[in-house]
Amino acid sequence: QWTLKMNVNERFDCYPGPNATLEKCQQLGCSWEESTDPDIPSCYYSSSNPYLVENIDYSDSGIVATLNLDDSRVRANEAYTAPISTLRLEVKYHLNNMLQFKIYDYQNSRYEVPVPLNLPSSPLNSSQERLYDVSVQIKPFGIQVRRRSTGTVIWNSALPTFTFSDMFIQISTRLASQYIYGFGEHEHPNFRHNMSWHTWGMFTRDQPPTYKLNSYGFHPFYMGLEEDGNAHGVLLLNSNAMDVTFQPTPALTYRTIGGILDFYMVLGPTPELVVQEYTQLIGRPVMPPYWSLGFQLCRYGYANDSEVSQLVEEMKAARIPHDVQYVDIDYMERNLDFTLSPRFAGLPDLVNRIKADGMRFIIILDPAISANETNYPAFTRGVEQDIFVQWPDTKEILYSKVWSFLPNVQINESLPHEDQVENYVSHCAFPDFFRNATTEWYKKEIAEVYNNSDPSKSLKFDGLWTDMNEPAAFMNGAMGGCRDDLLNYPPYMPHLGYRDVGLIYKTPCMEGLHYLPDGTPARHFDVHSLYGWSQARPSLVALQAATQERGIIISRSTYPSSGRWVGHWLGDNTAAWDQLHKSIIGMMEFSLFGISYTGADICGFFKDSQYELCVRWMQLGAFYPFSRNHNEKGTRRQDPASWDEAFEDMSRNVLNIRYTLLPYLYTLLHDAHADGSTVVRPLLHEFVADRNTWDIDEQFLWGPALLISPVLRENDRSVVAYFPDARWYDYHTVNTGFRKQFQNLSAPLDHINLHIRGGYILPWQLPARTTAYSRLNAMGLTVALDDAQSAAGHLYWDDGVRIGTASPSSLHQTLLWLGTAKGGSIPGDTQADNTKPKDVNWGEREQTLGWKGWTWPRPFRGDRSELTFRGKTEVKPADQRYRNVILPD
Ligand code: GLC
Repeated sequence: QWTLKMNVNERFDCYPGPNATLEKCQQLGCSWEESTDPDIPSCYYSSSNPYLVENIDYSDSGIVATLNLDDSRVRANEAYTAPISTLRLEVKYHLNNMLQFKIYDYQNSRYEVPVPLNLPSSPLNSSQERLYDVSVQIKPFGIQVRRRSTGTVIWNSALPTFTFSDMFIQISTRLASQYIYGFGEHEHPNFRHNMSWHTWGMFTRDQPPTYKLNSYGFHPFYMGLEEDGNAHGVLLLNSNAMDVTFQPTPALTYRTIGGILDFYMVLGPTPELVVQEYTQLIGRPVMPPYWSLGFQLCRYGYANDSEVSQLVEEMKAARIPHDVQYVDIDYMERNLDFTLSPRFAGLPDLVNRIKADGMRFIIILDPAISANETNYPAFTRGVEQDIFVQWPDTKEILYSKVWSFLPNVQINESLPHEDQVENYVSHCAFPDFFRNATTEWYKKEIAEVYNNSDPSKSLKFDGLWTDMNEPAAFMNGAMGGCRDDLLNYPPYMPHLGYRDVGLIYKTPCMEGLHYLPDGTPARHFDVHSLYGWSQARPSLVALQAATQERGIIISRSTYPSSGRWVGHWLGDNTAAWDQLHKSIIGMMEFSLFGISYTGADICGFFKDSQYELCVRWMQLGAFYPFSRNHNEKGTRRQDPASWDEAFEDMSRNVLNIRYTLLPYLYTLLHDAHADGSTVVRPLLHEFVADRNTWDIDEQFLWGPALLISPVLRENDRSVVAYFPDARWYDYHTVNTGFRKQFQNLSAPLDHINLHIRGGYILPWQLPARTTAYSRLNAMGLTVALDDAQSAAGHLYWDDGVRIGTASPSSLHQTLLWLGTAKGGSIPGDTQADNTKPKDVNWGEREQTLGWKGWTWPRPFRGDRSELTFRGKTEVKPADQRYRNVILPD
């Protein structure tokens, strides 16, 4: 007997929960065919979705329609909660390259994500230049988005999965290809998603990077490549716990347990443009201060300030660049925010001393505030100002436990963590950072640390490291237990780890009450994954108010648009070889998410690091925008001064390369801030026509022009690197030749392979122990010519610390250059073919690079206030990417 079998790739999972059975499947009215692969659903939809479209209205600026539930067709599994019978669909053509489609219940308002987006005040009113067309399928309901230029369908949701109920909203789309990047925060084994039936949960959590588990951030954004290399990006603006499933169809299914469906799509058409358009929508990445591009040292478990002081001295004696020193929670008294432990009584003085020597200092802050103290102003003022997350019914403060220890307890550190939490950890309250009052409270508490009434206690920090803001707790839920089972153990539990514990695993109860800035109450259930986002702006505001400088915030938890205020480190990784590769993938993903200041804990957080691992990690980490070596309490020292002389030499050498290139890195971060381009750039962003690049994630670029090919495996003394079609100059030898090929490169232990791309000019500056000193050194340009014997580049420069960046009106205080260099005119160049890049000193530039009428003082001292422009340049941008740079008159 023959039965008609559906191609398994066309199956859409009808029972996404665990333990599907034939009986349960039949009850849902779905089809069952036992599959041997547990990832391929055995229970799948065999009928179309139950919504149909009525009252559709097409206009030049979009589509409005009503979706009605066809009652006769409601399937048993709409199940998790009853489907909403009438929905509104709104499609808005915001820009030629950006549209929104929103599906919501317009009769009963539901939670919508309170993250402001940058939308044009009026939608398009002409269809002429639009990159896309949208059509709506009436019965069953579906949306198609087509790229006009190629006809490629990049979104098609006319699929059986679509359903919309209070606590289970599901939509699938067919995808244009198998090339999908993004979604987070997770540890992904590759940059490109594996489409073979994989589900990824999203819900912020204090979860060290682990395969398939949802970590600190929440980024429901992906970039898709179409078969011809065109690229698009899709954001689902929803913050409820969700999961996404990829299947080889190729298709993608979203399942979220609250909010609405609010999609934003950008049409590129290049990968770089996708990020630029996405960050135009969510906000551009923050501009970090120059010093934050220096090398940074931290660890959890410094015993006292003398240990920190000695470390600084050792780094100095070893002449290893070291710009930023941290203290972890050890500096606080019993882990209480805004306090100073007696063991760190010398810290304020130490900070002043090292700052006088050109270094900078960052301290950690955890969000939760202890409630068990007799004299703790941070808590009492917080209560007075009513800033804490509450219980919804009684409006009392909701207490949980995390980090801070009770007063007067004798701590036995050998007890297991749970017992310590039980016996020693105090109750704590969570500031509700959505409220304006909380920002004011935060500003005051932070300012008092900076300017303590006792000057010997003032900690003159330069940046803040905001940890544990998922928010994390050391218990599940709250003291006294949670009260609302429906929210804490929702009918559909997305694919998050620890599903039996419900959503409250290591976080407060979902019924916790927040107030949005306009006073609207919001459940923690809805805004949980926005906690780190909500803390981001208040943190930067408070930091800048205290220090009067630009400063930097490094946040663990992020959501789309967090990049406007913070950078991000990839959390509690492990001293293991696979983590080097994972860190590249993580940074590339955060480039897509609009957060450019990123990096992982160099040499690994958990476990003792090892010599060779740490050497290779120092080499790779020298090319993290956020370059910090950090590890866990109780693990061995792993800073570069803690190994041996050879280690010190290798660290110094690679950090000197980093420091030499900081003017280039700073410019890239400014480009990201101004135009939304990426800093850590996947090769496919520059060479999308070359499909080899679509899978490359063991190498990355800094901007368009520096290729980094690190060693990622133990004992390897060579590395296989891919060279896309361009001229590539070896950074160390200036040799050229590799092109459009995989090449085995020698990589002895003291060597990282770096290549400069022909056609680019990289600004550089001689390195020094800190950026305060390197910024006084001579600068220069490395001109790497392309096949046409030309090169272009630009530099962004300012004092590195002022709040805000130079705007066009103050360009007289900012040096920007842009132009082309022609081969043959480079001084000292005796080679007719110009195959080698040349270092050109500032002083020679005017005559040799064709700069017309630009003068600035020599020697160039690197302080923007010393820079002036005169005259006008006739040099035209050679590269349209930089068209946004405004040249001074
Ligand atoms: C968290 C952070 C880690 C920090 C530790 C102590 O685990 O992720 O970086 O060292 O807390 O504050």
